[in-house]
Amino acid sequence: MNECLEAIKNRRSIRKFKEKKVSESDIRTLLHAAHMAPSAGNLQAREFIIVSGEEGRMDLASAALDQEFVREAPVVIVVCANTTRSESRYMARGTLYAIQDATASVMNILLAAHSLDLGTCWVGAFDERKTASLLNLPEHVRPIALIPVGYPDEAPTPHPRLGDKIEHWEKW
Ligand SMILES: Cc1cc2nc3c(=O)[nH]c(=O)nc-3n(C[C@H](O)[C@H](O)[C@H](O)COP(=O)(O)O)c2cc1C
Repeated sequence: MNECLEAIKNRRSIRKFKEKKVSESDIRTLLHAAHMAPSAGNLQAREFIIVSGEEGRMDLASAALDQEFVREAPVVIVVCANTTRSESRYMARGTLYAIQDATASVMNILLAAHSLDLGTCWVGAFDERKTASLLNLPEHVRPIALIPVGYPDEAPTPHPRLGDKIEHWEKW
């Protein structure tokens, strides 16, 4: 199996992190991977907030319905959709595109992190208003996912997938 397929197969959500810091150069590598994700019309209707301060991570954990591991990771990348950037070209459809632009970059971050022996978790359960307010986000920028990043301190077993139960060849 090639390295890309290997990474897709072996990545797991990590919710327990070592205290070891993540280097700035690794964070920049993750952001570069995020920027390389596809986006509608290449508008890249996404923004990234990098939170490494203790207080910021604590606040994010509280906005994420008290998911403590968000605070325990040394850095949290908040991936946001910049809705007006996409809506200015694609109108109502642009709202959906901005969310897709953001989520495509989330997946790149998760896989790039895995390739650097870093652990991540896609955290979608959070109070959107609270998160936006903590991060001073403008009205047209929606937080889509929080990604705690750190060195894994657990090795979870794979979660089962539905596989061919959710495949529909030719038609539903
Ligand atoms: C949209 C979305 C939201 C998620 N939100 C959370 C979350 O708030 N907290 C959490 O611990 N995991 C969250 N997850 C991670 C999933 O629980 C996890 O991906 C799933 O159980 C499969 O496990 P795996 O990532 O190890 O393959 C989320 C994943 C996605 C795609």
